[in-house]
Amino acid sequence: MAAKKTIPELKHLDHVLVSEVAIKKRIKALAEKINRAYRGQDLTVIAIVNGALIFAADLLRQLRTPLRLDCLRATSYHSGTQAGGKPVIVDNLKLDITGQKVLLVDDILDTGNTLFAVRELLLAKGAASVRTCVLLDKKARRSVPFEAEYVGFVIPDEFVVGYGLDFNERYRNLPCIGVLKPKYYAPKT
Ligand code: IMP
Ligand code: MG
Repeated sequence: MAAKKTIPELKHLDHVLVSEVAIKKRIKALAEKINRAYRGQDLTVIAIVNGALIFAADLLRQLRTPLRLDCLRATSYHSGTQAGGKPVIVDNLKLDITGQKVLLVDDILDTGNTLFAVRELLLAKGAASVRTCVLLDKKARRSVPFEAEYVGFVIPDEFVVGYGLDFNERYRNLPCIGVLKPKYYAPKT
C-alpha cells in the first residue's frame, strides 16, 4: 500500500480488516442503493461526527438526490475502547427536519445505543422517516434492538480504527480499517 510510506501510524496496525480499495468499492454500491431508494426525493443527511466525517464525505459525493447536510455530535466512549453507558447527544442541529426524510450516517453500529437514541430524537423533532447508513456493523455487540438499512461491512467483535474511527482521538486519518497492535492500547504511565 503506497500510503504506508506516508502515514507512520499505519505501522501501529496489527492487521488490516478492510482495505482502502474495498471501502471505495463498497461505498459505490451503497450509494447506488441509496440513490435508487431516494431518486428525485429531497433528503436530509445527518452525520454523527467526528466518526462519520470521512465516510460521509466519500458517500455524499456519490449521492445524486437533492440533499441537505447537518451534523450531530454523540459520544459514548469516555476514553479508550470501553463504552461509557448512555450516549450523550449534543443537539445543535441547524436544519429544521419537520416532515423531512432523514438519512443518518455513522461510522459504526456497535451496541446500538447511539443510533437508537439519535433516531428517537429525530423522530421526536418531527422527521417523516429516519433510515440509517453505517460503514461497519458489529452485530454481535448489540444491546438494544437496532438495525441499519444500509451497511457497508459486518465485522467481528474487535476494536477497529481508521477511516474516521479513533482510539483516544488518534488514527482517524488512516485510509483503511484496521486493528491496533496490543502495545498501542497500553495505558501511558
Ligand atoms: P454504540 O452506541 O455502542 O453503537 O457505539 C457507537 C459509537 O461507538 C460509534 O459511533 C463509534 O464512535 C464508537 N465505536 C464503537 N465501536 C468502535 C470501534 O471498534 N472503534 C472505534 N470506535 C468505536
Ligand atoms: Mg461515533
